Amino acid sequence: MQHSSETNSTILNGNHYYIHLEEEFTAHNYHPIPVVLERGEGVYVWDVEGKRYYDFLSAYSAVNQGHCHPKILDALIQQAKTLALTSRAFHNKAFAEFGQYITSYFGYDRFLPMNTGAEAVETALKLCRKWAYQKKGLPENSAKIIVCSGNFHGRTISIVSASTDPDARREFGPFTPGFLVIPYNDVEALEKALQDPEIAGFLIEPIQGEAGVMVPDEGYLSQCALLCKQHNVLFIADEIQTGIARTGRLLAIDHENIHADILVLGKALSGGMYPVSGILASHEVMLCIHPGEHGSTYGGNPLASKIAMAALDVVKEEDLAGNAERQGEVLRTALRAIPGGRIKLVRGKGLLNAIVIAEKGGVTAWDICIRLSENGLLAKPTHGDIIRFAPPLVITDEQLQACISIIHQTICSFDV
Ligand SMILES: Cc1ncc(COP(=O)(O)O)c(C=O)c1O
Repeated sequence: MQHSSETNSTILNGNHYYIHLEEEFTAHNYHPIPVVLERGEGVYVWDVEGKRYYDFLSAYSAVNQGHCHPKILDALIQQAKTLALTSRAFHNKAFAEFGQYITSYFGYDRFLPMNTGAEAVETALKLCRKWAYQKKGLPENSAKIIVCSGNFHGRTISIVSASTDPDARREFGPFTPGFLVIPYNDVEALEKALQDPEIAGFLIEPIQGEAGVMVPDEGYLSQCALLCKQHNVLFIADEIQTGIARTGRLLAIDHENIHADILVLGKALSGGMYPVSGILASHEVMLCIHPGEHGSTYGGNPLASKIAMAALDVVKEEDLAGNAERQGEVLRTALRAIPGGRIKLVRGKGLLNAIVIAEKGGVTAWDICIRLSENGLLAKPTHGDIIRFAPPLVITDEQLQACISIIHQTICSFDV
């Protein structure tokens, strides 16, 4: 059989070819939507066949500032040409500046840099334990940290030890001890758990992202923070997904005027340009860790530091929190107005949103995501029947209207 040269190049370079390559040579630890992306700009990404999509996932809220933001890109290029990595064996100018910048930006005393979200959470857990022994006076090896069922804090052994997701845990044991699981959005459960004198910290996502954008009742987080204070327990906010303007405020805990004892950040700290994460805390808490007790070769490198400062500048300069809040309202209202009963529930805050798909005619969230991708919008199901909608926060009114119309048409197309 003969192919034209155009057909040949499509076979060699098209989505299917790269999907095949990836399946053949890499681990099967994800189940991606079958598109192969090669370029991005703002809210758009393009696949290897030149098709353009709206990105409605934003790399799980890492690309809040939009793909390849020119200011962040410029910071990367300039610093990459100057000095990329020193390790923390020596001081570096950019990190010193970044420390001052990020503490004043978020209103905390001290910063400890890492790279990925999971590392930042691990760092928070370690710091919390150190504090418990040095400041709270717990006997060594007794400290416990409360977590919530349905949590997602990353993939390391200790973090999955605190998980309630069977897929995250199965055959990965033995697990790290010292975690106590309570139901999410249940103040009484926390109050009861805090009766244990060996509790050192309470680790919580202000909105549970991976669980399907579970938004707790108003007042829940502030009551939790107050209870922690009353029991001399650290309130640890994992804002890796909710933070940095995603929910319509700089931090999701800002909706309830909470100051965390340990604030955990990642993802959008670099606008998707580079892995940058870290934790913020008071002098008293942070200085419980001493030289040689914790660190990372890449954490706090000059490139990461410059990129993160540019990424945080963009958040304020472009009022991404304000845009997230405004566009989120518009999106949720439009989603709720889609007829046909296929959308059972719409929930979210700012531009961190999800729809729950009704059981109807065997159409799954996956089927809907596939058809959305055919229609030019990329979203991903979570937990079977939930689809998260979280576009970059730079989305304009016009772009959002175009996305709403794609979603509307796609959902309704299952009923014709
Ligand atoms: C709330 C939360 N914490 C931690 C993580 C882990 O971040 P990373 O994948 O960068 O390790 C994630 C990732 O989705 C997250 O949503």
